[in-house]
Amino acid sequence: MKQYPDDLIRGFDRALRTLTGQHRANRPSPAADEPQNADLSAEEVRHAAGLMRVNHCGEVCAQALYDGQSTTARSPEVLAVLAHAGEEEVDHLVWCEERLDELGSRPSVLNPLFYGASWTLGAVAGLLGDRVSLAFVEATEDQVVKHLDSHLSSLPDADERSRAVVTQMREDEARHGHDALELAGTLGDGSAASVEEQTLSPLQKRVMAGVARLMTATTYRI
Ligand SMILES: [Fe+2]
Ligand SMILES: [Fe+2]
Repeated sequence: MKQYPDDLIRGFDRALRTLTGQHRANRPSPAADEPQNADLSAEEVRHAAGLMRVNHCGEVCAQALYDGQSTTARSPEVLAVLAHAGEEEVDHLVWCEERLDELGSRPSVLNPLFYGASWTLGAVAGLLGDRVSLAFVEATEDQVVKHLDSHLSSLPDADERSRAVVTQMREDEARHGHDALELAGTLGDGSAASVEEQTLSPLQKRVMAGVARLMTATTYRI
């Protein structure tokens, strides 16, 4: 049973920890076995830092989305999937922050803004029902995988450390999307068609893509 005051206090605590870099990763960073910035020019370091700052903000948004969705989710199964994905997103958040630090840079000053917007979006998705919420996870992770693919193409060739982090994140995000869709198929009447019906409309997907573009364009620089 949900206890909203307690949930909100815990949510506020998680928000503060996310925005102030107080989380601990459960897994070691995939960057650990890769060489340091051996052959990176100053311009390449600046570009890699911009990309990793965008990715870090994406992980801040992931924490907010999953927390918002968990606040309004209904079934224990959905809460469990959100919690497991959320734990892996903590690893991503910490790895991105560590890499930013190595590149001599820092997280975006816009993170609190995007956290608030993402939390609200997640809570609304949860209010629309568990299956809609899971479809939302699937659509979001699908978008994130495409975004990470573009970063893998854009990162400097010599930046093996950032590349290792992004590659592991991509693998995890694809699994989060797959797990969400699989669970959505077991809820309600269980038919694949009705899962499809509750998947977000093309308009909603365009709005999500627009927000993601705004985040990408701004946090690359600040
Ligand atoms: Fe992530
Ligand atoms: Fe994810």
